[in-house]
Amino acid sequence: MDNKIICRCEDLTEEEIRQEIRQGARTLDELKRLTRTGMGPCQGKTCRPMIMRILAEETGVRLEDMVTPTVRQPLVPITLGDLAHEEN
Ligand code: FES
Repeated sequence: MDNKIICRCEDLTEEEIRQEIRQGARTLDELKRLTRTGMGPCQGKTCRPMIMRILAEETGVRLEDMVTPTVRQPLVPITLGDLAHEEN
């Protein structure tokens, strides 16, 4: 069993990721829903490339042919002043 941590934010090992793929996960979005990978504070910036490499190895799909994850807008609208860190 490979206990190498792949997603530090969600504390997921390579073996846990591979098991989800072997049980049917075929996209990054599916892995995200099943394991929360990419949903931590870094939003997948650290783990996404490694997850995609593992997904490519397990499924045989080339990296350039993979479906990219869905990007959603923030749930709560914010003002431009909040974005600029200005006082109202
Ligand atoms: S390392 Fe995976 S979400 Fe941050």
